[in-house]
Amino acid sequence: MAVTPRQLSQWKQQGRSITALTAWDFAIAQILDRAGVDLILVGDSLAMTALGYTTTLPVTLEEMLYHASSVRRAVDRALVVCDLPFMSYQESTQQALHTAGRVLKETGVQAVKIEGGYPALIETVARLVQVGIPVMGHVGLTPQSVHQLGYRQQGNSPEAGKRILTEAIELEQAGAFAIVLEHIPPELASQITQKLQIPTVGIGAGPHCDGQVLVTADVLGLTEKKPPFAKAYLNLRADIDQAVRTYCAEVREHQFPEA
Ligand code: KIV
Repeated sequence: MAVTPRQLSQWKQQGRSITALTAWDFAIAQILDRAGVDLILVGDSLAMTALGYTTTLPVTLEEMLYHASSVRRAVDRALVVCDLPFMSYQESTQQALHTAGRVLKETGVQAVKIEGGYPALIETVARLVQVGIPVMGHVGLTPQSVHQLGYRQQGNSPEAGKRILTEAIELEQAGAFAIVLEHIPPELASQITQKLQIPTVGIGAGPHCDGQVLVTADVLGLTEKKPPFAKAYLNLRADIDQAVRTYCAEVREHQFPEA
């Protein structure tokens, strides 16, 4: 059965943890889906992991549409969520409606994710939800604001923590179906998780969220540098390096192909 936003809320109530990972192409998405990942995020981190940019800012809507379509074609079960890229939704609610509408219509993904929880954005979320577009929020460290926040942990003063809690509550009230909590203290993530009816999905936010998300390139050991909170379950860079070197050696030494 395909995963829906409603299903994620039911899992929160049942205490069943939600698994989420990012994907940027067909092959990776198919492996994640068949392995049972609940939510596949076409994150704008693909700007860095797949396109070689140093931040998420340069990725365009057209690029996100291209990657999201290929991911969507691979997935039968997981809920597929696509990030709206930097400056494709912040100008106005009108712009956000136009962008999110294109993402759902042109890629087939079921939901969008946007970063932040300031008042104008809360209005935008409410309007997107009103027209039938499921929205996932994202608070704490929001990489599209890297030039203001850096990649530092957020919410570690009482005022900053209170602000993030308020943003999360307002996103829920606006109709978001889930919220990513990125790089905030575990105690704050736990407090937000208990306060909200909708699920929280943490990344660098400790073990007390309703689910966890990681960037798949970090999980597979494909990135040269991963954030301190990520875990590599494989060292695929080294494995690919070894395979390619062996292939080159075999071709040069006329061992491949065999007669
Ligand atoms: O773009 C992304 O990969 C994300 C995750 C870090 C949650 O937003």
